[in-house]
Amino acid sequence: MGEFASCPPEAVKAAEAVCGPVELKEITDRRGSAVWKATGPMAAVAIKLGTGGAAEVTAREASVLDQLPGYTVTAGRAGEAVWFVTPWLAGRSTWEVFRAAREGTAGRPIALAGAVDLCRAVAGLHAASWVHGDLQPSHGIHTESEVKLIDFAWSWQEGTTPWTSFQGAMVHLMAPELAAWISAGPQPVKTSPAAEVYALSGVLWTCATGDWPLDYQGAGIDRKEAGPDGLRDAIATGKLPLAPATPWPELQDVLRPVLLSGPADRPTAADLGDTLAAVSM
Ligand SMILES: Nc1ncnc2c1ncn2[C@@H]1O[C@H](COP(=O)(O)OP(=O)(O)OP(=O)(O)O)[C@@H](O)[C@H]1O
Ligand SMILES: [Mg+2]
Repeated sequence: MGEFASCPPEAVKAAEAVCGPVELKEITDRRGSAVWKATGPMAAVAIKLGTGGAAEVTAREASVLDQLPGYTVTAGRAGEAVWFVTPWLAGRSTWEVFRAAREGTAGRPIALAGAVDLCRAVAGLHAASWVHGDLQPSHGIHTESEVKLIDFAWSWQEGTTPWTSFQGAMVHLMAPELAAWISAGPQPVKTSPAAEVYALSGVLWTCATGDWPLDYQGAGIDRKEAGPDGLRDAIATGKLPLAPATPWPELQDVLRPVLLSGPADRPTAADLGDTLAAVSM
């Protein structure tokens, strides 16, 4: 692990315009992308900095935040780097909301309510013709009033010109048809609401079981040996089985058909939310 990036003074100044004098807390720094929590007497914000190849990705994310209703952003450049400041979302991630449910049945009502809230947040995005593109267990923040999403670097509004090249986000949550398109081309590959519903179900499966949805081992695939591209090519076949563990059958019975069906047969995010709301415990 190298040193944590240093936060550009321009970004600190933008944070202080909202928060008053801030104290910075280092949150994550990987692959050229760093996040700080900046807390001041008036508010707390997230500062995200992209350097190297991540600079343009960060610029794109800032532009998405600027366009999305319900999100605000201030962005700028510091030399070659790009930074933005956006309100800090207070709450637990979907992964954390499911923690108690992974440890025993008592946590299930809260996890299930969180699952429904996550579906509704994704449904809201889709209703505005946006696709998040990188749903993960850590990318939904369950605030007091609703779930807000973070990490919009691969978000896309249908009908607009997409990026020049998309290699996919988290491979373990990639819908088979998206994996096949990325494997075979042509670029630009576009994400879709149906592929996102696959990822959404995969996120909930992962949060419930503690493991990614697909049974690579059962399919005779060595994850390390295959690497992300090998896994993606295997996922593209659409033939990998789901992991056999069923710690929460009632929830998994709803998610399983979504993960096993083609894009045209998947429910919308809103319908998935309604189905989950009716799951009995
Ligand atoms: N607005 C925010 N409110 C609260 N927490 C945030 C916010 N933005 C980022 N975080 C925290 O910082 C972490 C990293 O943020 P994000 O996923 O946007 O960065 P990243 O560099 O793309 O990380 P990764 O490569 O792990 O996806 C999040 O998992 C979350 O804990
Ligand atoms: Mg992230």
